[in-house]
Formats: sequence, structure tokens, C-alpha cells
Amino acid sequence: MAHNPAAQTAFGPMVLTAVEQREAPERRLVNDDLAFAFLPAGLRAVVSATRLGLLRRLMIGATERSGPGLWVNLACRKQFIDEKLDDALPGIDAVVILGAGMDTRPYRLARRSDVPVYGVDLPVNIGRKEAVVRRVLGQAPPSVRLVPVDFETDDLAAELARAGHRGDQRTFFIAEGVTQYLTADAVRTTFEYLRAAAPGSRLVFTYVRRDFIDGTNMYGARSAYRRFREKTQLWQFGLDPAEISSFVAEYGWRLIEQAGPDYFLRHYVGPAGRNLTASQLEWTAYAEKT
Ligand SMILES: C[S@@+](CC[C@H](N)C(=O)[O-])C[C@H]1O[C@@H](n2cnc3c(N)ncnc32)[C@H](O)[C@@H]1O
Repeated sequence: MAHNPAAQTAFGPMVLTAVEQREAPERRLVNDDLAFAFLPAGLRAVVSATRLGLLRRLMIGATERSGPGLWVNLACRKQFIDEKLDDALPGIDAVVILGAGMDTRPYRLARRSDVPVYGVDLPVNIGRKEAVVRRVLGQAPPSVRLVPVDFETDDLAAELARAGHRGDQRTFFIAEGVTQYLTADAVRTTFEYLRAAAPGSRLVFTYVRRDFIDGTNMYGARSAYRRFREKTQLWQFGLDPAEISSFVAEYGWRLIEQAGPDYFLRHYVGPAGRNLTASQLEWTAYAEKT
């Protein structure tokens, strides 16, 4: 398989999540007791250093300079998705995580539910994750399957079916931190697949605002723009919050709600007593299959 630089981005959100676990429980924006163990040794060393509050603040500060507010968005989107999944769990038959990266959610979920979970990602990250799971857990829980798929070139429906997922299962789909890395064609193809989801299925996905992708609004994140748009074009696809309802409706989904910066500040940052801002750059949408 050709080298895909997007694969390397699987670690960033988990570093941030692991650093958050160094906060006192009532100050954490996201809870994930496996995040640290799922990191490679070098990143575990970096995260260990942030047990000192000063180093933690320096790391958050460095992230903030690259994209003001993105620390909050990345942490809070994880907590938001965990909560939506918990709420929906009694009414669903399967979970499919698209672009799962090093997400620990399948393994945390397997502790309390035997609902089948399919973690989909590029083959290189599936290999990495299999090795991580062997190291941390010894063996994978029987309910979790890892499915190698490149959304740009592979047949997602066929690969999920091969892994045992059935189209008639009410499924909780998650696409967290992924759509921006795809071409518009791959996003459309993935949503075409989602059109066939069983009624009662749920979908959470995040997206980057289109006006950032096309360079008309920096949202203060000039350095992120240089990194993801000018130097690499790693981020390719964007949407506008105002169009999400009609975008998902095209594929037979009804938008339930969206979480943007105000939502994250109100629901997570304020109650945690943290003095942080949230970004307009990335939004999280939650929808149900009609
Ligand atoms: C920023 S990471 C997010 C990982 C995880 N969802 C999270 O939030 O912690 C983006 C993920 O999308 C995956 N990805 C990017 N392009 C992809 C593609 N064409 N096919 C499959 N996965 C892809 C990457 O490998 C990576 O794991």
C-alpha cells in the first residue's frame, strides 16, 4: 500500500486524551483510562512528563498557539461521542468506527457490553493497533474486529460485510476527526454507504469548516492552516454548520444536534472549572437514520 501521511495523525488525539488524564478527575474534559497505554513508548514518555502541572500547561499552550481552542474541541468531542454512544447503546446492535486510529473506545466498551464493534482504518494503522492491543490487553475482546479499509479506494460495505457486520443491524457509526482527511469523492462514497444503514442507526461525525479549508477564514489557526493546507494538503474536505442538516438529509439521515464551541464550553469546560477557549474550526454532528 502507498504511504499515506494521514495515517500518522492517529496518535495526536490520543496524546491529548492521555495528558487530560493527568488532571484531577473533576477537571478532566475527557475520561479514558486506556489512552496512555495505547501510545508508543516515546509518546508515553512525553505524556509522563506532563504529570507536572507546569509542563502540562506548556503543552496545552503549544497546541493553543497552533490552533486556538482545538485542545478543547478534540477532548470534548471524545467525551461528547462517548456520552451519545452510552445513551444509544440499549437501542443498537453494532458500532462501526470509521477512521478509528488508536481510539480506545472499542476496548472500553467491551468491558461492559458485548455489542460488536468494528474499528475501520488504513491497513497500516490496523497493523499498529493489533500490536498495541496485544501489548496492552494480551488478546482482543471477541466483540471487537479491526477492518483495514482505505476510504479512497476500497469498498467499505464489502469489507465490513466480510468482517461480519450486517446491513440490517441498527448501528452506531462514528467518524471522528476523519472527514477532513478525505477527498470530497471519498466523503460522498462513504455517505452513500451510510444511506443503506438500518433505520434507528445513529451517526456522529466531525468536520472542519469549509471556509477554513478554502482559506477565507483562519479562525486564528494560521499555523494549523500552514501545516494542514499549505505544506501538506492533508486536510481536503470541509462543510459549513448551516448546511449539515440538508447534507445528512440527502443520505436519509436526520440531524439531531451539533456540538460547536459554545456547546463544549457550556457542557464541559465551564463545569470542569478550566480557563480554556474552544474553536469554531471543527464541529461535531449527531444524526439518526430515518
Ligand atoms: C486524526 S486521526 C483520528 C483518529 C480517531 N478517530 C480519533 O479521533 O482519535 C484520523 C484517522 O483517519 C484515518 N484515515 C485518514 N484517511 C483515511 C482513509 N483514506 N481511509 C481510512 N482511514 C483514513 C487515519 O489513518 C487516522 O487514524
